[in-house]
Amino acid sequence: LRSKLLVTRTLPQLSQARLDKGFEGVDIVQWKEDCAIPRQEFLKLAKGADGILCLLTDKIDAELLDAAGPQLKVVSTMSVGYDHVTVSELEARKIALGITSGVLTEATADTTALLVLSAARRLREGVDAVIQGKWGAWSPTWLLGSQLTDKTVGIVGLGRIGVAVAKRLKAFGVKKFVYQGTRPKKEVEKEVGGEIEFVDMDRLLKESDVICVCCALTDKTKNMFDYEAFSKMKDSVVFVNTARGGIVDQDGLIRALREGKLGSVGLDVTVPEPLPTDSELLTFPNCIVLPHIGSGTLETRTAMSEIAIENVLSGIKGERLPHPHDA
Ligand code: GLV
Ligand code: GLV
Repeated sequence: LRSKLLVTRTLPQLSQARLDKGFEGVDIVQWKEDCAIPRQEFLKLAKGADGILCLLTDKIDAELLDAAGPQLKVVSTMSVGYDHVTVSELEARKIALGITSGVLTEATADTTALLVLSAARRLREGVDAVIQGKWGAWSPTWLLGSQLTDKTVGIVGLGRIGVAVAKRLKAFGVKKFVYQGTRPKKEVEKEVGGEIEFVDMDRLLKESDVICVCCALTDKTKNMFDYEAFSKMKDSVVFVNTARGGIVDQDGLIRALREGKLGSVGLDVTVPEPLPTDSELLTFPNCIVLPHIGSGTLETRTAMSEIAIENVLSGIKGERLPHPHDA
């Protein structure tokens, strides 16, 4: 009996070559247009699938699972985040869920550090000034940013990525890290190699010179950064989100930016994605927005697609997934 595998997008070259070669006993159906699979196509192509390899742009809910049918054994998302998946619906149907945990930690932490420095040193304004011919004679007072030396950095969600961010920023002379997260202080202090203090959210907001959002989007973290939260931050704060746009109440962020309540902002994630070019968010010179490329290196995306393939093949065979979501 042959199995059906649905893949919702073209994968990085190495993994795509494996798909093109095929797997014993598996019929592969793949959406190969250069856009996310439209919902109606997804519902149609999912029918009869034993395994689905999807992306964070593909909503996996009851409707999709019903469209697929009762034979579906595994959903493997090529992402570490799985807020696009209704986990309770998968559990109710005994469908396994695989994610690409571990392999994108370094690339995503690099992007977070990149945004911290870019925001703090006003990269967007500097680059724009050069392009627009506004680069005058060297000036003692022009485009002055702030540096990390002796500063306090708040990390919200000190998981693997949060720890990797702290390790990087430590090299820039940060004095102290404060965090919100579930891991024991002793353990993370050892990993980061510096002082880390667990604080309540209020203190984190008030005391941090830099705030990095590194947590998952859940019912608890949705809109956790709202206007009130931004109002508590220092006027000079550098606020960076590389996790999920939905953790920030974007209208609250825009209002805070409009009122000059934030030093600088760096975002790799927004609501919606892609962010419309007429979004007010793009009008603030002290706000840098990247197009959700946190894990965007060839090395990491290849590692992610390879894991996604291993997860889905294991699931189709009824074996334990090498990277389950709840490991
Ligand atoms: C990217 O955002 C991911 O969740 O892998
Ligand atoms: C990141 O890669 C993670 O697994 O948390």
